[in-house]
Amino acid sequence: MTDEQPTPDGVLRLINGYWATGVVGAAACHSLFTHLEDGAGTAAELAERAGIAPRGAQTLLDGLVGVGLVELSEGRYRNTPEASRYLVDGKPTSLSGFARLKLKHMGGLAALPDVVRAGGPVRNATTEVADNPHWEEIVPAIAAQSVPAAGIAAEVLGLADAGAVAILDVGGGSGVYSANWLAANPAARSTQLDWEPINVIARRLLAERGLADRFTTVAGDFHTTDFGTAEYDIALYSHIAHQESPEDNIAVFSRLREALKPGGALVVCDYVVDDDRGGPALPLIFAAEMLLKSARGGTWRRSDYHDWLVKAGFTTVSFHSAPPATLVIAR
Ligand SMILES: C[S@@+](CC[C@H](N)C(=O)[O-])C[C@H]1O[C@@H](n2cnc3c(N)ncnc32)[C@H](O)[C@@H]1O
Repeated sequence: MTDEQPTPDGVLRLINGYWATGVVGAAACHSLFTHLEDGAGTAAELAERAGIAPRGAQTLLDGLVGVGLVELSEGRYRNTPEASRYLVDGKPTSLSGFARLKLKHMGGLAALPDVVRAGGPVRNATTEVADNPHWEEIVPAIAAQSVPAAGIAAEVLGLADAGAVAILDVGGGSGVYSANWLAANPAARSTQLDWEPINVIARRLLAERGLADRFTTVAGDFHTTDFGTAEYDIALYSHIAHQESPEDNIAVFSRLREALKPGGALVVCDYVVDDDRGGPALPLIFAAEMLLKSARGGTWRRSDYHDWLVKAGFTTVSFHSAPPATLVIAR
């Protein structure tokens, strides 16, 4: 009988997880995935196209093979399908800006031991502050994450054939949902409520896509700005609930119920965890980000969303997978 012990490999990978953040972020900074996609296949070719040292190019390639984002075949490197879809600059699904941003955030995690002792941010919380430059950096970088979820939500709602619907996007950020939904339905109109510097970013995106005439913005704090009464067919609250307390989420959901026409749908998109907090992995780990950055946020359970939405006056609640997020649709 063998007494097999686990190797330390997995634990060492986790302890050194910042190596992966560094390698992927540095490769994104130098557009390595884009050069690979364009046909560069050796360290020398990449070094020349990216304007980096050959030793640096080889080191990044080794790291990228190590983390499973680049493959090596007969002496030439190429993106895996995952890297090709999610890390090449300019693709609508590209997360390369997010990879660059996370390089800058890495150091902030050193505060986590103090943050868990205190039960919340030890420096300034970032999520509650009006016109915080944090948002201007983050919203373009996370826009691509919402593209698949926006598509899934559009399917579930039957948006393309829904006619002249009015949409309210609370904390719409880059405007990525409005851009995708207005493109899918030429009769729809959308209003985004966010801080003004963020609305500027969204208006730019909608104008670039030729959709500006059906897109309006309202500047303000969604805790206090009036949403109106029975004005909208669809309301959206994407990646906001995790920064808010349960009480604040119930208050916003109640006001959104009022703002929706009878039968209208509220779409919530977020990192939702199972009721026993046993999974999924990424939403569970994301809770640390909210402890670090928000006064009362967290990753909430399915049952939390269900209870809050019922308390807010919604009668049907359904959950739809949009990995790594979940869409919650309430009417
Ligand atoms: C994580 S981003 C989500 C953006 C977008 N909904 C998405 O899913 O891609 C959060 C957004 O909420 C906005 N926001 C946060 N707190 C806010 C508040 N109190 N009032 C208005 N907007 C707020 C931020 O400016 C940012 O655009």
